[in-house]
Amino acid sequence: MTTSTQFAPVKWENDYLVLLDQTRLPVETIYLNLTTSEEVWASIRHLQVRGAPAIGMAAAYGLYLGVRGSEAETHAQFWNELIKQADYLGTSRPTAVNLFWALDRIKARVEKETSLSVAELKAAVLDEALAIQKEDAEVCRTIGEHLLTLLHDGMGILTHCNPGALATAAYGTATAPFYLAKERGWNLKVYADETRPVLQGARLTAYELQQAGIDVTLICDNMAAMVMSQGKVEAVIVGTDRVAANGDVANKIGTYGVAVLAKAHGIPFYVAAPLSSVDLETPTGADIPIEERPAEEITHGLGKQVAPDDIKVYNPAFDVTPAKYITAIVTETGIFKPEEIGNSKK
Ligand code: MRU
Repeated sequence: MTTSTQFAPVKWENDYLVLLDQTRLPVETIYLNLTTSEEVWASIRHLQVRGAPAIGMAAAYGLYLGVRGSEAETHAQFWNELIKQADYLGTSRPTAVNLFWALDRIKARVEKETSLSVAELKAAVLDEALAIQKEDAEVCRTIGEHLLTLLHDGMGILTHCNPGALATAAYGTATAPFYLAKERGWNLKVYADETRPVLQGARLTAYELQQAGIDVTLICDNMAAMVMSQGKVEAVIVGTDRVAANGDVANKIGTYGVAVLAKAHGIPFYVAAPLSSVDLETPTGADIPIEERPAEEITHGLGKQVAPDDIKVYNPAFDVTPAKYITAIVTETGIFKPEEIGNSKK
């Protein structure tokens, strides 16, 4: 048995939310106990919990923490408080649609439960948050099964950022086939881009795959072209924060460049996307809100000042890979050409 579930980035335990502080990895393993929606908001904003599915899970528990002390007496009063809390949590980060998907899912459940007492509504909110987390592990495993049909033993695969167990309930999305391949005795050779400026590839992907005994090699982002030209990479698999209706995909900054390089080298480029990341309401990649993060991530990103004082900085946290660079988007419902992603939810 592999150790794909050894990391529990998000846990509901003893009536509070326990988060593995991902800003401290890989050097320190520190768990945070959160009891308020404000703490959850801050931990999402400051990347203590990150990765699209994990953000959704944390926000769902945050919504429960935000309403569990409610003194509402009617469904309407409770609903108003729930909406306020959901709107607030939705301001923590803009790009990963899983955040809004999870909040909307809880809202939809409460909206229709008009005959329940407020105590029962609170229990329903927690129940839905727990269900979101439980389903995510199953979804990731299924995505991994589908991806595995596109791979073979001994293959070299490049990934970017951390679409891993640390970003989900278990397995990761893009990393799920790595864990499943290991279970089957395959030896995939994974190349992990370090992923500037916050180094999710170096700090998180390299760490979790190494801990699981998966063959992983860390490279700087600017080495991907060389590694591809040397024939070491036969496929690229990345995660996503939001897939638009036309098959454009937002993911961690740098993903677009990797996709262009893959195309130039004739290497297939796959996107692992739970349906919670597929946003058919957003027509194209140009409509996806792209988060901009503090300049210090670049100017002081490696623990010391690496740029002049007062330098102008542009720090978009995500980019959009146009559909034309994507070979397939793999969801829990199957493998889709990007232009056919609308079929994934039918
Ligand atoms: O800024 P982050 O660390 O939240 O960005 C995460 C990514 O871009 C991941 O690739 C994406 O969320 C997919 S996670 C399965």
